[in-house]
Amino acid sequence: MIGTGYVGLVSGTCFADLGNKVICIDKDKSKIEKLNSGISPIYEPGLDELIKKNFASGRLIFTNDFKKAISKSELIFICVGTPNKQKSNDVDLSFVFKAAKEIAKSTKNKKIIITKSTVPVGTGDRIEKLLKKLKRKNLDIISNPEFLREGEAIRDFRFPDRIVIGSNEKKHFKILKKLYQPLINKGANFFTTSRRGAELIKYASNAFLATKITFINELANLCEKANINIEDISLGMGSDSRIGSRFLRAGPAYGGSCFPKDTKGLVSTGDKFKINLSIVKSVIKSNDNRKKVHTEKIKKILGSLKGKKIAFLGVTFKPNTDDMRDSVSLKMIPYLCKNGSKVTYYDPTGEKKEFKKIDNCKFKKNIKENCINADLIVLHTEWDEFKSIDFKRINKNKKLKIFDLRNLYSISEMSNKKLDYYSVGRPKIN
Ligand SMILES: NC(=O)c1ccc[n+]([C@@H]2O[C@H](COP(=O)([O-])OP(=O)(O)OC[C@H]3O[C@@H](n4cnc5c(N)ncnc54)[C@H](O)[C@@H]3O)[C@@H](O)[C@H]2O)c1
Repeated sequence: MIGTGYVGLVSGTCFADLGNKVICIDKDKSKIEKLNSGISPIYEPGLDELIKKNFASGRLIFTNDFKKAISKSELIFICVGTPNKQKSNDVDLSFVFKAAKEIAKSTKNKKIIITKSTVPVGTGDRIEKLLKKLKRKNLDIISNPEFLREGEAIRDFRFPDRIVIGSNEKKHFKILKKLYQPLINKGANFFTTSRRGAELIKYASNAFLATKITFINELANLCEKANINIEDISLGMGSDSRIGSRFLRAGPAYGGSCFPKDTKGLVSTGDKFKINLSIVKSVIKSNDNRKKVHTEKIKKILGSLKGKKIAFLGVTFKPNTDDMRDSVSLKMIPYLCKNGSKVTYYDPTGEKKEFKKIDNCKFKKNIKENCINADLIVLHTEWDEFKSIDFKRINKNKKLKIFDLRNLYSISEMSNKKLDYYSVGRPKIN
């Protein structure tokens, strides 16, 4: 496995747990050092124990030594990052190409390379071309996009809805089917297609899910104005089996390491093929605008931002992960601080480097310390520990306001407790 991030480390560890011998490589020496001393560089529930178990059994090895790792491996998974380029929607494939070159340099033998990283249509073709230029015709390239979700990654790996394999040569399907057989036996759908087809399935899936979230978020805006409860709309729509109830929960904008970059990456692929993916473009625009919708609402709730004490509960893009990539808090907190508010935050995964240099933003060690003096509490991430807070006990301010971006609490219950409570797309009961 090349790259020991959320995908490479989880997949590598789970493949080892299925009985394979796995070597995980990363260019980041500190990550490998941590892993070799038994510390996981990422927070993912259940991962530490699984790493320890498979490391102890000798099935899981961590190294920086490409030559040793590549020469010993039959299947080589590329799991490196594929972020957007800084100034465009284009996908930065430099890590993928670098990994492919490292593989070519490390062995003369025949190997199968599998891209697990999310890569735009035609990337497999480009890797093949690059390897041919290096006079390497005995390295096959297959696409096997990964669909696991952070926070549920181990379960998702073990019980995937589908395993997608894309190759232009049928012989590869048999090899990959053998690797994935234990998961297929448990009910995973093994789906084969062309290499380009597999590459596009991943982008299409993420863009569709992002569209569902954005759709319900826009309807939440309408519900707030029309005095309707968005949860009734989600339930009423979602029980139609053609629509489905998942990803229809109104909340903050979508964030994280995948949806923002993959929607943009898909648009950029469309542009390259001269196809206008107008729906996806609208989704990106609406989602970007959503961050402003929330800060405007905060301004309205507080009257003014100047001098107000705002406490964030959770700052990661979702619970059960320490991943901050494209979290909505990264836009909201700096904006609030810049406009005169004093922001504190507590996150179960600790202090975040992203906020260290922001004036008027401080990390607090627990929920109580964070909320005790607040004028407004913002429920940003739905960690379990934020689901049953006694707000009156932790904050004696009679004018305390609560803005629940995840609709974690019942509006009638909050009203009965005489709490000044705001949520997303639900009527306010006074
Ligand atoms: N994070 C997710 O939930 C998720 C889910 C599905 C798919 N994906 C896709 O999987 C890919 C990886 O995502 P991630 O979140 O694991 O990324 P990540 O940034 O957490 O990890 C990438 C790792 O690759 C290493 N790396 C980069 N170049 C290298 C090289 N040449 N040699 C060795 N190591 C190298 C980095 O040091 C880093 O540790 C991306 O394409 C992403 O879109 C991510």
